[in-house]
Amino acid sequence: MSSAAFTILGVAGSLRRQSYNRALLRAAAELVPPHVAIETFDIGRLPHFNQDVEAEGDPPEVRELKERLRAADALLIATPEYNWSTPGVLKNAIDWASRPPSSTPLKHKPVAIMGASPGLLGTARAQLALRQALIFPDAWVLPNPQVVVMGAADKFDENGSLTDERTRGSVRNLVEALVAWARRLGPD
Ligand SMILES: Cc1cc2nc3c(=O)[nH]c(=O)nc-3n(C[C@H](O)[C@H](O)[C@H](O)COP(=O)(O)O)c2cc1C
Repeated sequence: MSSAAFTILGVAGSLRRQSYNRALLRAAAELVPPHVAIETFDIGRLPHFNQDVEAEGDPPEVRELKERLRAADALLIATPEYNWSTPGVLKNAIDWASRPPSSTPLKHKPVAIMGASPGLLGTARAQLALRQALIFPDAWVLPNPQVVVMGAADKFDENGSLTDERTRGSVRNLVEALVAWARRLGPD
């Protein structure tokens, strides 16, 4: 666990090794202010949501996700766009974390969303779908700024480092805005 004054849990919505979105999250972790740390949770470890499984008690990976969400001061999600929406693995993680509605760790959690795509719209549609999924669990999603990374193939190098200076600036601004948003909202 981090000793930083402000801890962000980072979740990437792609399981792909060379994922742009995992790379975007790594870039965010490099660009945070000194008192802020980004820790990540790998959603590929989660089972498919099944209400029968849930009724028998959360699997250990789900318990860990919920505990780490509860412990974090904020959540940062990097989402790919699949078929104009957010990938199933990411929705699956939100579905697990959203339960039960009365005590979900997403409730009043400050959240920021970003995303990268090789296409022209840079995950804009997926980000909207993700915002929608976070309404019912009562997460507090930062309205702006938006980080919509289009043409991702030109913005990362072959090692998955974010090389585009403008995008690096946008990611830094987003993290700073998330910290300010969380402080403004205060502890729940
Ligand atoms: C099932 C599937 C659906 C996709 N649909 C979209 C889409 O709607 N819009 C888009 O911009 N890219 C789409 N793509 C391309 C992804 O943006 C691209 O694969 C991207 O690299 C995925 O994110 P990642 O690099 O983080 O894994 C799709 C890819 C897959 C595999």
